[in-house]
Amino acid sequence: MSLKVVSSFSKKVKKNFVVFASKSNKNKLQLNCKCKDVVSIIEASFKSEEFTASAGETMLFRSANVSGFENLLIVGLGKAEDIKHETLRRSMASAYRALKASKQSHAGICFPSISDYGLNAQEIGFILSESIGLTSYSFDKFLAKKAPAAIEFELDASAASDKKSAEKGAKEGKATSEGTNFARYVSDCPPNYMNPVQLAKDTQNEAKGLTKLKVTVWDETRIKKEKMGSLLGVAQGSTNKPRVIILEYKGAAASKKPICFVGKGLTFDAGGISLKPGPGMDEMKYDMCGGANVIGAMIAIAKLGLKVNVTAYVGAVENMPDGNATRPGDILTARSGKTIEVLNTDAEGRLVLADLLVYASEKKPASIFNIATLTGAMVMALGYQHVGLFSKDDKLAKLALDAADRSGEDLWRMPLVDEHLKLMKGTYADLQNIGKDRGAGSAQAAAFLTEFVLNDVPFAHFDMATQMSNMGKYYPYCPDKGAGGAMVRTFIEFARQA
Ligand code: BES
Ligand code: ZN
Ligand code: ZN
Repeated sequence: MSLKVVSSFSKKVKKNFVVFASKSNKNKLQLNCKCKDVVSIIEASFKSEEFTASAGETMLFRSANVSGFENLLIVGLGKAEDIKHETLRRSMASAYRALKASKQSHAGICFPSISDYGLNAQEIGFILSESIGLTSYSFDKFLAKKAPAAIEFELDASAASDKKSAEKGAKEGKATSEGTNFARYVSDCPPNYMNPVQLAKDTQNEAKGLTKLKVTVWDETRIKKEKMGSLLGVAQGSTNKPRVIILEYKGAAASKKPICFVGKGLTFDAGGISLKPGPGMDEMKYDMCGGANVIGAMIAIAKLGLKVNVTAYVGAVENMPDGNATRPGDILTARSGKTIEVLNTDAEGRLVLADLLVYASEKKPASIFNIATLTGAMVMALGYQHVGLFSKDDKLAKLALDAADRSGEDLWRMPLVDEHLKLMKGTYADLQNIGKDRGAGSAQAAAFLTEFVLNDVPFAHFDMATQMSNMGKYYPYCPDKGAGGAMVRTFIEFARQA
């Protein structure tokens, strides 16, 4: 565990002391740390304006020799009244990055310096541990020179009224960060290694020992038997065979309806016959992030032991052009019997998801969350800051936005109306896979998906093309390059309240 809750610091962490500081509305330094020698250093650097206590700001004092520690790292939290969970999560990530940059391996965290901001011991343990776990992730599987080991932290909770709570929180933060890091890992792997079969294998391995989590994998024969003609239409251009990965978590009574997650797992999207342009095509290994993040959330939910039932479906497929590939103009038949005219083979995510949504909604779950790197248009609409949320169900949309808010993730509701669906009606088939309008491509895609949700199951779709990769600039606990695991925390949080 990268964060240990202790009653007194061990010798090995006495190398670096991490102390947080904030400021008042009137820009006065606010400091809850009780160590006099530390306080005088921070006060001096604040007075000289070298340290302003802004959120995420860090300053390392080497050989400070304060409170039994060799170095002192001071970390800003910004305005005290603005401090939320996410503030601490990001500031802790900045602290991690500063220590890593100066090649440190151990550090102790000053508990009192984070108290008095309305966070209880469990929340503090949780956020610190989650942030440390998330920030410590690095992908070095294919490098000769491996990344240094994760920095080990200790939190001295002797001043906390409830050390056990801090420990409980730290354990939870470990679970959520491990789930997210698994999602990042499978996404970061190169597409010649991480194909649908490998994704299924890795998922099964990761779920081992989690007794309430069952993983079932469907091969091509089974997928054919299930009449998933839309998904198979995408897969048929690749020599890498598709898989449907089903994860069932039973944490509540069997009588309780499960919530359901569906994820797009394109281990590579070349565009098919409607081939994508060359520059940046390598990034399309990340077209499996929606599926990976669903798997990550399920792993975390199982590790947390949440008292809820959740079923997840991931469509693991590769979209390639070859002699067998679907052509523009081909008509596919989805599991529901609806026909789809494929006008652009690069609009493949919705074809994969259509069959999974039919299957998922046949089971009549309490609700369905669908997540996918679905449209480039989402980036045009929102940039990289927000994931787009599409739902006709106001109640479910609110639950999703609230869960994102509690998780510190940025989610923005987008319009989804009947007119968007009209633009997806086909000429030679019931539907066509691209819209008739040039604008609102993401809403048209979302409308297409709603056509495959049966039995009036409340449905929400998350278009995470915006936050597919390289999110470090926005969230310091995400890698600068590589997958970030967007919405894993939001999905976990939603399950927590379900
Ligand atoms: N996987 C892409 C969407 C995407 C693009 C995600 C860039 C992240 C970054 C998806 O399969 C796709 O290619 N969509 C097309 C749809 C179009 C043909 C209607 C797109 O967005 O261009
Ligand atoms: Zn595509
Ligand atoms: Zn795609």
